[in-house]
Amino acid sequence: MHLLSSARVKAGESVLVHGASGGVGLAVCQIARAYGLKVLGTAGTGEGQNIVLQNGAHEVFNHREHNYIDKIKKSVGEKGIDVIIEMLANVNLNNDLNLLSRGGRVIVVGSRGPIEINPRDTMTKESSIIGVALYSSTKEEFRQYAAALQAGMEIGWLKPVIGSQYSLEKVAQAHENIIHSSGATGKMILLLE
Ligand SMILES: NC(=O)c1ccc[n+]([C@@H]2O[C@H](COP(=O)([O-])OP(=O)(O)OC[C@H]3O[C@@H](n4cnc5c(N)ncnc54)[C@H](OP(=O)(O)O)[C@@H]3O)[C@@H](O)[C@H]2O)c1
Repeated sequence: MHLLSSARVKAGESVLVHGASGGVGLAVCQIARAYGLKVLGTAGTGEGQNIVLQNGAHEVFNHREHNYIDKIKKSVGEKGIDVIIEMLANVNLNNDLNLLSRGGRVIVVGSRGPIEINPRDTMTKESSIIGVALYSSTKEEFRQYAAALQAGMEIGWLKPVIGSQYSLEKVAQAHENIIHSSGATGKMILLLE
């Protein structure tokens, strides 16, 4: 909820969930679709791509294909994408700025290092790069998100997708595997018993 409100999305706009097959990405796909957005997603495996399509995306691309950015550009045309929810900004931010529409917004959710960008790309389109951090939310904001998510699950437009599962004693392995993932298929969870 926080991601989409930070991007000030309007129904009918387009969103690219750049890294849609993981825990955050699939939830964004579901919520964005319920908001009335045109949803594009990316995943790195065929299985991940299928799950993205089953969870609200209109179209999916494979971010491990060398020409996938061209395919996205071809799909969205001259106008570009209104909002990009970015899970790996240190790899994608430069491409993201080129994919945006005029006045477009990139929301940085995940990043694992630095990247070089050309600030001029933000001038030409008057675009914005906005970082979000869930841990900066206030108690009141957490209450608001919880109320909206609870309603989504009750009505059915939000259905958490569980990916890999680990017992608590395998937590170190879980951390290792999420960093060197062979392909996400939903939220990684730890089992407490
Ligand atoms: N800012 C915040 O408040 C906040 C909150 C929660 C999480 N996060 C961060 O957000 C990121 C995603 O979290 P998560 O729980 O969804 O992790 P996850 O389940 O491990 O998912 C990672 C996602 O990134 C995708 N990915 C891999 N290579 C990519 C590339 N080159 N371009 C675009 N996407 C790529 C993966 O796709 P494939 O596996 O299919 O290749 C997968 O969809 C993490 O960095 C996490 O630390 C931030």
